[in-house]
Amino acid sequence: MNYELKSFASDVELAKAAAEQWLELVAETARKMTSHFVAVSGGRISKTFFAQVVEQSQAQHISWNLVHFFWADERCLPPDNAESNFKMAQELLLQPLGISPEKIHRLKGEEQPEVALAHANSEILQLLPKNSDGLPVLDLILLGLGEDGHVASLFPGAAADVEKCKAPFLFISHSPKPPPQRLSLSYAAMAAAKDVWVLASGQGKEQALRESLAESGATPLAKVLRSRTQGKILTDVQI
Ligand code: 6PG
Repeated sequence: MNYELKSFASDVELAKAAAEQWLELVAETARKMTSHFVAVSGGRISKTFFAQVVEQSQAQHISWNLVHFFWADERCLPPDNAESNFKMAQELLLQPLGISPEKIHRLKGEEQPEVALAHANSEILQLLPKNSDGLPVLDLILLGLGEDGHVASLFPGAAADVEKCKAPFLFISHSPKPPPQRLSLSYAAMAAAKDVWVLASGQGKEQALRESLAESGATPLAKVLRSRTQGKILTDVQI
């Protein structure tokens, strides 16, 4: 198995453990004085996770000075829209932690998708180290899992060019989860990252998780797991 699977009794227990493990990484990068490039997701489990991160960070006096924030996906909406993934992170994570604006690399959901993509792809390629395929190497991608097995805004049944995309970010025009227009990290960017942690939480995801872990699984999460040599799944789903 090329991933670690850990089960928890509830979403709060899961979020606590994920926050604890992430803060260890952040503290280590602060000690080594190296940058830490992370991409966060939207969804309900992110809310619980962000709250845990803030609580634990305040208790431990963690330094966030070298952490750069990116997004695994964003809805094509203005940043002050209630459905914006940036807005949620801004209110529940970035503001409470006092993250400075130059460390926040949001996806511009309010722009025309091609403009937002051009900006996002050039920004991430400029800032991050790249692998031999020229893809940016994020230190960590934090993902949720959808009831249909989606991660970020990579959904089952997407057009072939979604799977083949070689750019870090891509435009998703027909998301089955509203809103339909989104920006997302690509499969290639997920394969290139140092680590990917999936916070798979909530009822109705049993089948999606089981299929994602099966050798022949066809869900987006299964594809991400197969493309990597390591990853973590933290879950409260009974499988
Ligand atoms: C989004 C997401 C999406 C989410 C999953 C899980 O913006 O919609 O990034 O991929 O993480 O749908 O969401 P829940 O935790 O709410 O089930």
